[in-house]
Amino acid sequence: MRVVIEGEVRDLRTIWREGQLVKLIDQRKLPHRLEIAVMRDHRETAQAIKDMVLRGAGAIGVAAAYGMAQAALEARHLPLKDFMAYMEEAAQRIRATRPTAVNLFHAVERCLRAAGEGGVEERVRRIVEEADRIAEEDLRASKLIGEYGAQLIPDGARILTHCNAGALAFIDYGTALSPIRYAHRMGKRIFVYVDETRPRCQGARLTAWELEMEGIPYAVIADNAAGYYMRRGEIDLVIVGADRIAANGDVANKIGTYERAVVAKENGIPFYVAAPKMTFDLKCPSGDEIEIEERSPEEVITAWGVDEEGNPTRVYIAKRGTPAKNPAFDVTPAKYITAFITERGILRPPYEESIRRAFG
Ligand code: MRU
Repeated sequence: MRVVIEGEVRDLRTIWREGQLVKLIDQRKLPHRLEIAVMRDHRETAQAIKDMVLRGAGAIGVAAAYGMAQAALEARHLPLKDFMAYMEEAAQRIRATRPTAVNLFHAVERCLRAAGEGGVEERVRRIVEEADRIAEEDLRASKLIGEYGAQLIPDGARILTHCNAGALAFIDYGTALSPIRYAHRMGKRIFVYVDETRPRCQGARLTAWELEMEGIPYAVIADNAAGYYMRRGEIDLVIVGADRIAANGDVANKIGTYERAVVAKENGIPFYVAAPKMTFDLKCPSGDEIEIEERSPEEVITAWGVDEEGNPTRVYIAKRGTPAKNPAFDVTPAKYITAFITERGILRPPYEESIRRAFG
């Protein structure tokens, strides 16, 4: 992604691998500071996923794959049986970080499968190659989603997006933000309404930052303002990302997505979900079977930011100890979704069929 640091333009990926090191943008610090965090082994990478140093379904998937590559390199001197036991343990550690985005589970399974037969050296090489392949596929899919999705954005469109399904949620480009980038680069005049996305404010912090870097006109709105703009006819289409899509087209995405979808339908506004193959879970029949992550109540009663000197600060919005509930995702039933934007093109209802045809 294009980032401007002290006037200098740089091209940066969200996460990358340098031998046994995994480097990533520390998303907890954005938009106030751009810092690169270094994960020295698979345990640190797993912890980074858990603590949301990086987040977003695609980025989590690539981090999981790189974590598996790190584990393979860590264990390369062990005898075969111990090597495989080490890989299983690493897989379990990574699977236990965050439950909803299926990209993480697909990435771990693909790396385990890639190990295949043969000696340790061969297996290590194949696991590392598979991890790199997952990263490259992520990038290719994001670009294709941008190309297909831009066709759905008319000149002059006012677009609503929720949370951050941008370059930061993948290796680069993103899903929901990729068609927006492409439309902008094609010269279409667009405007983006960015839901702030409480409690962690991925919209206000991350999506706004990405749009700013790209020079795309936008405004952050309070989470409860989206319906107001939709009813006034000021939003022409909605594009969101996804963390897991069931075989019937039900979508798990950041909490609040369901409400946007219902209000969009009520107002006759197209509601698009942009996601790559890695986010589709054909083994999951419907949204009812998707595990929804419950995060700490502290996230709801506090807010992170910087003080006037730019120092990171956490403040209490509610009284310390106030009871709170914090589901991180919700499920939007397929009937509210106008189409899926994928690297295989635009998928329309009936979704059981179009999803199976594209990815089955
Ligand atoms: O909790 P997060 O930030 O990891 O949540 C993931 C998301 O950013 C969103 O749900 C997003 O819309 C889909 S991720 C491509």
